Amino acid sequence: MTKTSFGKMPDGQSIDLYTLINRQGIKVTITNYGGRVVSLFAPDRAGRVADVVLGFDDLSGYLAQNPYFGALVGRYANRIANGEFKLEGTEYHVPQNDGPNALHGGIRGFDKRVWTARDVSKENPSLELTYLSKDGEEGYPGNLSVKVIYSLTDNNELQIDYTATTDKDTVLNLTNHSYFNLAGQGNGNILNHQLTINADRFTPINSTLIPTGELRPVDGTPFDFRQPAAIGARINDDNEQLKFGKGYDHNFVVNHKGTGLVLTARVRDPESGRVMEVLTTQPGVQLYTGNFLDGTIHGKGGKVYGYRSALCLETQHFPNSPNQPNFPFAELKPGKTFQETTVYRFPATQ
Ligand code: BGC
Repeated sequence: MTKTSFGKMPDGQSIDLYTLINRQGIKVTITNYGGRVVSLFAPDRAGRVADVVLGFDDLSGYLAQNPYFGALVGRYANRIANGEFKLEGTEYHVPQNDGPNALHGGIRGFDKRVWTARDVSKENPSLELTYLSKDGEEGYPGNLSVKVIYSLTDNNELQIDYTATTDKDTVLNLTNHSYFNLAGQGNGNILNHQLTINADRFTPINSTLIPTGELRPVDGTPFDFRQPAAIGARINDDNEQLKFGKGYDHNFVVNHKGTGLVLTARVRDPESGRVMEVLTTQPGVQLYTGNFLDGTIHGKGGKVYGYRSALCLETQHFPNSPNQPNFPFAELKPGKTFQETTVYRFPATQ
């Protein structure tokens, strides 16, 4: 693993960029600013690699406004309705930074924090990032100690292991918010990408993108990705859910049998033949199709990031779980360890 300088924070603190390379020559770079995946090179059907994630060439791009490119998101990824929840009878208020709701951990969530990095490579290059989120930070209770390990395996897998402990009851939802375009970052939109999602149900939303609490079967809806379908095939259908999301911006209920990693999604760019598989232990995955990208952001190498020029598959606990008793538990108690794993795999041959 190598470490280079990525820039300086406004207060002068130096930020680094770590490069992980596996024996296949696949390369991933990660910065300790927000624990962000900055670049990820994946092979096409002929073995030619392209950088498949959106991002910036240096820290200054990330310090300017950007929609969570590559970031570790927390303390509570996605939305909490009206920025409020109750724990053990106490009501908590967190910043409403997305209309009436809280989004992605607040004004300065984990994506905007400086993490402590350590090379923990064994057989594979592995980068450990730790962050202590203090009691009351962005309104959330408890000193939360978070550890994320990024490893790059020889099967072209970027594995992300999340663990966390707290000293007070808190709510917790951690994800990685990489934006993928398998044709290469900044190379057109993702509407022709073929997507499969291993989910029989999804969580429909209201007009502010908060799940209603229903677990709705995907049968006969544009949310049925159990067989591969082009992302663009139904995205503009006359469907209330797609209108609320301005496209896909929904949580799917991953079909899990017991515990452990499960193949959750597969994406294929028919042109290049590049494939990404997503495996996770988490109960949900947010499909977000870059509906808010509008060409105003210029990213790596000056590439313009247009409308729907990337997709996110954010493995997660369901949005607004703290206010939905029928959703899987998203609380962490003292003495317990939060543990989840997600793998993004880029098979060499298809
Ligand atoms: C949310 C979108 C949001 C995007 C970028 C996704 O997780 O569901 O609504 O626009 O993140 O912030």
